[in-house]
Amino acid sequence: MAGKWTPESWRSRPIQQQPDWTDPKALADAEAELRKYPPLVFAGEARNLKASLAQVAAGKAFLLQGGDCAESFAEFSANNIRDTFKVLLQMAVVLTFGAACPVVKVGRMAGQFAKPRSDKTEKQGSLELPSYRGDIVNGMEFTPDARRPDPARQLRCYNQSAATLNLLRAFAQGGFANLQKVHAWNLGFVSKSPAGERYQELADRIQECLGFMAACGLTPEAIPALRETDFYTSHEALLLGYEQALTRVDSTSGDWYDCSAHLIWIGDRTRQVDGAHVEFFRGVKNPLAFKAGPSLSTDDLLKLIDTLNPANEAGRLTVICRMGADKVDKLVPLIRAVKREGKTVVWACDPMHGNTIKSSTGYKTRAFDRILAEVRGFFAVHQAEGTYAGGVHFEMTGQDVTECIGGAQAIDEIALADRYHTHCDPRLNASQAIELSFEIAELLKREREALAEPRVALAG
Ligand code: PEP
Ligand code: CO
Repeated sequence: MAGKWTPESWRSRPIQQQPDWTDPKALADAEAELRKYPPLVFAGEARNLKASLAQVAAGKAFLLQGGDCAESFAEFSANNIRDTFKVLLQMAVVLTFGAACPVVKVGRMAGQFAKPRSDKTEKQGSLELPSYRGDIVNGMEFTPDARRPDPARQLRCYNQSAATLNLLRAFAQGGFANLQKVHAWNLGFVSKSPAGERYQELADRIQECLGFMAACGLTPEAIPALRETDFYTSHEALLLGYEQALTRVDSTSGDWYDCSAHLIWIGDRTRQVDGAHVEFFRGVKNPLAFKAGPSLSTDDLLKLIDTLNPANEAGRLTVICRMGADKVDKLVPLIRAVKREGKTVVWACDPMHGNTIKSSTGYKTRAFDRILAEVRGFFAVHQAEGTYAGGVHFEMTGQDVTECIGGAQAIDEIALADRYHTHCDPRLNASQAIELSFEIAELLKREREALAEPRVALAG
């Protein structure tokens, strides 16, 4: 089945979820321009992430992936980037300290613009317009002008991604991620919430450990891992024209890499085994992921694994499961089949997309309890099957939004109206995200204890 791969071999396959670009010349011009732009990430970085994900697959590290459902032009600012980064660092520290487990940090950032939609069009009154597909395609405003797909938006997204990445690299390597700043990551509005207070206590303990280590000569000046961190980017690679334009040959290995992000994933709606997305993905050497919703059959799962990771390399492929809190048992046959076939994947849990509901006040929302229930179910299934719950995938923000209900702040359906800013799906706010990470740290700690080598009692 698999013929020769080229960066454009996907073009002869059936493709889902693409905009109806009405101006082919403008599209070709935008793609030609993108082909001239420098890569956003380097192949060597993608290889480092793959090596870290191989550690996750082996149960020696945990994957934390998170960020906006959709980045937007309107919410693009240094403060927003900084705050999302801060919360991810806080979550990572809670997990690392709570479960004594290294955390691989991957942002849904610096390229997460394109959105698949359930309906091609949206109707308001008698007016029917193309659905909003993310700022990389059209505008959210319900006017014919805004909703017309505009290929030039891809150039703006490239530039926004480059600026975002520039800041993320500076934050990760330039002193901001120094563990001695662990207190400073707690955002003002979070510090007064129960999760923020709990975080404060944990930060005190870390500070104490750092003091002890420093007295032993282990200072951030001496140990790079204490003063900087590795932070990777990822997005759903939905617009294949954009992705193709940023796909380049790595001069050191001669391999193709999609240099738009370190990790790219295929959404639940575009993972057809013979479809264009799978065709494009199989030829690039980045670490890859795909979403696994309740409709994924065991047969298709194995075909996807064979196509995307024929050499069964650890770290190459992550399966992001998003079954919904009531359907986590759908994972059982999938996990068993992967085990039976001797395949290596990272199993991650996206507890957001299977738990989206409409509130009585008309907002698309998600309940904190359902999100937590899916994560708990995910860990329970893995524990029962003797496999690793490898990671989590969240839609979250560093802002004090009210988009998901519940959590210790007890946001209710009425409060959703207060600060509902998302450009697509509802996100956890900073307090909810930190609260969740404390719960996950407990689950991870228990998993690691259960799977650890049994200790041999000493005689005598
Ligand atoms: C998403 O991650 O925003 C998304 C659309 O997810 P899924 O493909 O799982 O529906
Ligand atoms: Co989403």
